[in-house]
Amino acid sequence: MRIGIPTESRAGERLVAATPRTVSQLVGLGYEVVVQSGAGDAATFDAAAYEAAGAQIADDVWACDVVAKVNPPTSAEVEALRPGATLVAMLAPGATPGLVEELRARGVTALALDAVPRVSRAQALDVLSTLSNVAGYRAVVEAAQAYGGMFTGQVTAAGKTPPARVFVIGAGVAGLAAIGAAGAMGARVRAFDVRPEVGEQIESMGATFVQAAAAQQAVSADGYASALTPEQEELTARMYAAETADADIVITTALVRGHAPTTISAAMVAGMRAGSVIVDLAASGGGNCELTVPGRTVVSENGVTIVGDTDLTSRMPQHTSQLFGTNIVHLLQLLTPAKDGSLVLDLDDPVQRGMTVTHEGEVLWPPPPVPVSAAPAVAPAPAGPTPQEIAAEAARRGQRRSVALALVAVLVMLGISFAPAAFLGHFTVFVLAVVVGYYVISNVSHALHTPLMAQTNAISGIILVGALLQIGDDSALVTTLAVVAASVASINVFGGFLVANRMIRMFRKDA
Ligand SMILES: NC(=O)c1ccc[n+]([C@@H]2O[C@H](COP(=O)([O-])OP(=O)(O)OC[C@H]3O[C@@H](n4cnc5c(N)ncnc54)[C@H](O)[C@@H]3O)[C@@H](O)[C@H]2O)c1
Repeated sequence: MRIGIPTESRAGERLVAATPRTVSQLVGLGYEVVVQSGAGDAATFDAAAYEAAGAQIADDVWACDVVAKVNPPTSAEVEALRPGATLVAMLAPGATPGLVEELRARGVTALALDAVPRVSRAQALDVLSTLSNVAGYRAVVEAAQAYGGMFTGQVTAAGKTPPARVFVIGAGVAGLAAIGAAGAMGARVRAFDVRPEVGEQIESMGATFVQAAAAQQAVSADGYASALTPEQEELTARMYAAETADADIVITTALVRGHAPTTISAAMVAGMRAGSVIVDLAASGGGNCELTVPGRTVVSENGVTIVGDTDLTSRMPQHTSQLFGTNIVHLLQLLTPAKDGSLVLDLDDPVQRGMTVTHEGEVLWPPPPVPVSAAPAVAPAPAGPTPQEIAAEAARRGQRRSVALALVAVLVMLGISFAPAAFLGHFTVFVLAVVVGYYVISNVSHALHTPLMAQTNAISGIILVGALLQIGDDSALVTTLAVVAASVASINVFGGFLVANRMIRMFRKDA
């Protein structure tokens, strides 16, 4: 089958649905790829690079069996599709019934990239996550451009400057990307989300999770926020007013199932310092800030810059096209089980069914709901014990712990009194190592867990060498201990290698 990659017709669009790298992956799946001349120019991919990757450059892309593009097609483009062809693009099917009807009437199988069910299995083809991630990063770049200061704190001979204070509202895919980018540039980042389960993710990125317990919702069953109650809105508004007044940069990304709630009122903007910046990532949906003008950057009366640009992903066309194109490759891998260049649509697969808008002259939108579980379901709390029972149980536990501690102390004293002097020295080092190790490891922040794993692997390596040296000892006890130590350390060393190998595979270019 032939896959056509057209030039995007939307004004100002710089993205393209395939890059030379993804073209070679599509060719590897058995497809012929035809790229319209000039399709990748704005994303810096020229015809020679596409040809070197195995594509043909031609203008009859719309006559192909499969057409993959970024934006919804125009009516003229739908007419140019071959009946029976498959169209892969962002289609916003819920908001464009006219387009859906045109696609049905043309006899096209239309797959909406923006309707991929949000289940773990489909993450690799989720273009919305790709675009949110890029937008979150670019929001920080735009903020840095508009802000008259540095992100990182500086200490120089000419004096000190403090780090920029960044406040991120909403910690979904875009918010977390913004937190990561702002933190990497040296800013002090604070973030809030109504979903309490994202607190750990915010902190793992080195930011502070702003607490507003009464405004936060119960752990969501499907990973999405619900609209706030009037009381919660009032509580969040008070917190937003305090946080925005203190921030140099505010990046707001809040969405409730695609709808943008107002998080920053005009009064809050009035309370911010001149020179501070708001980047509103929800601008295309109307905006989270009352003063946002979608598609434009405006400055409030008190000198706050409000960035409402809606083309942030297009401003980084090279990497966005690469990630978007890889999402399409993952989709085609799913649709080409035999890797023979023939597309097979399986409507029994919830992922494929979820994104199919029209097929064989029928409208299949909306699809049946797909159960999504982004957070562990909260089990109903069992009827708990009474306070008296809890107190009695705590007292019993305390007594048991004291007896056990006393027994251990007696055994240790006996051991020490009869042990040789060399053992005492080793034992003291061992006890100190346990105490120091416990406090060091329990105080390591989430962000440093990977280097910590590397260190524990190194320690296990040392244990392994020590154990191997002792394994031939005359004493059966020493040999047994050495074998146990070697086995336990091996689990850590080889397990570490396996985990590292899996992580490295995730970064391989051809994955
Ligand atoms: N394929 C997948 O499994 C997949 C793909 C993408 C996202 N997800 C998950 O879906 C969830 C939502 O991610 P998203 O990026 O699509 O979110 P989103 O774009 O729908 O919303 C952005 C964030 O705004 C928050 N928010 C809403 N109202 C708010 C308010 N008034 N104040 C502050 N914050 C507010 C939301 O909780 C969310 O975190 C996440 O848990 C994410 O991990 C799963």
